[in-house]
Amino acid sequence: MERSSLTIVLAAGDGSRMRSSVPKVLNPIAGEPMLAHVLANLPRDPRSAVAVVVAPHHDAVAAAVRRLRPEAAIFVQKERLGTAHAVLQAADAIAAGADDVLIVFGDTPLITAATLQRLRVPLAQGSAVVVLGFRAAVPTGYGRLIMEGDQLAAIREENDASPLERMITLCNAGVMALAGRNALNLLRRIGNGNAKGEYYLTDAIEIARTLELKASVVETTEDEVRGINTKSQLAEAEAAMQRKLRDAALADGVTLVAPETIYLAADTRFGRDVTVEPFVVFGPGVTIGDGAVIRSFSHIAEAAIGARAIVGPYARLRPGAMLGENVHVGNFVEVKATMIEAGAKANHLAYLGDAHVGANANIGAGTTTCNYDGFDKHRTEIGAGAFIGSNSALVAPVKIGAGAYVGSGSVVTKDVPTDALVLERSQQTLKPGWAQRFREMKLKAKAALTRSQ
Ligand code: UD1
Ligand code: MG
Repeated sequence: MERSSLTIVLAAGDGSRMRSSVPKVLNPIAGEPMLAHVLANLPRDPRSAVAVVVAPHHDAVAAAVRRLRPEAAIFVQKERLGTAHAVLQAADAIAAGADDVLIVFGDTPLITAATLQRLRVPLAQGSAVVVLGFRAAVPTGYGRLIMEGDQLAAIREENDASPLERMITLCNAGVMALAGRNALNLLRRIGNGNAKGEYYLTDAIEIARTLELKASVVETTEDEVRGINTKSQLAEAEAAMQRKLRDAALADGVTLVAPETIYLAADTRFGRDVTVEPFVVFGPGVTIGDGAVIRSFSHIAEAAIGARAIVGPYARLRPGAMLGENVHVGNFVEVKATMIEAGAKANHLAYLGDAHVGANANIGAGTTTCNYDGFDKHRTEIGAGAFIGSNSALVAPVKIGAGAYVGSGSVVTKDVPTDALVLERSQQTLKPGWAQRFREMKLKAKAALTRSQ
């Protein structure tokens, strides 16, 4: 029978080294809080439980956990006394008796499900503790793994390490797996007699060894286990995550003309034969239909793009933008909370907010849906096949009937029936020859002035 597991996520960091008031684990990577990436990779099955340790007053972190993994138990670490102290806050969950107890950090978001699975193998073979290790290019700040043959003898934190130990590049990734039967015993023996006066989870190794229990290491790559303590490490993790997402999109058949210039979210979903031109940013919640083309410099978040639609260059699709098949949204067009039905076009300089645009409608350059009165948002309905002339202001709430024409420059405040023309503009005044007479008069006056001087 498969072994049961409890994964404890430590998320009580305050982010002080980020110099930010946002809890560290809520800093975003690829459009989602760091913590979301960690939680997404934990197994979801009846034999796998999840517990998260959060800091007091970090209500936003607890709320994120409830949203992302509603079944997870949440424990509060009242004082920040170290990683072992944090794990012990979840003692009740450990006492429930899972075969394997995994400990992961909320600030190590690139870890994969496969690696977590790999960490459990030595437990099944009799190890009491398994640590995830990696070779660090610059080991500064990480705990160093001190080996004795293939056994792990100890983990030494930077502040407690001798100059010789600091030269070790095999480092602690921060992920640990404990055999459930030994977990509480090991954790409760950990003291705080180190340079920082903290209860270090890493001391579990030496304690296990004194109890003649086996401690082993599973290795992975540095990219996967980047721990994030500073904004610069956040940026490195973002870069690593973006490389991963771009590679996955390319492997899926998406044409990214210049992959290094495309920013994706973890949940960006592409259909077949999608092309993305250079310099496009995808925020969270974007789906793109088959054969769509996203042209350069577009910014898209929480939007759905239909098959064969063309977006951009320089388009902005905001939350709730829904584009049907063959819709064209061109340069400097902003769309928010608006459904644009199949074949409709808004090719230049428009704002469509809180609106519904019927199939094959044409939205002229400079069209604005005036959706906000300073207090409330109002809706604009544009019927199928309607033609909205350039520089029109549609003052919501307002309905333009199917097939209707709105004359350019109109400010439309009342509903327009199907197939009607609405024109809201003053009569044009025409004075034939006026410009020529004006110029002659001016030139004459100027000449008279020059003569008299
Ligand atoms: C830790 C490890 C180090 C490892 C590194 C990998 C220890 C003692 N050190 O160091 O060996 O190389 O991670 O990134 O474990 N946390 C709490 N409560 C606390 C303290 C920490 O919840 O009282 C959480 C933090 O939110 C964070 C994680 O534990 O998610 C790690 O803490 P952090 O202070 O970042 O430890 P590092 O110095 O990075
Ligand atoms: Mg850290």
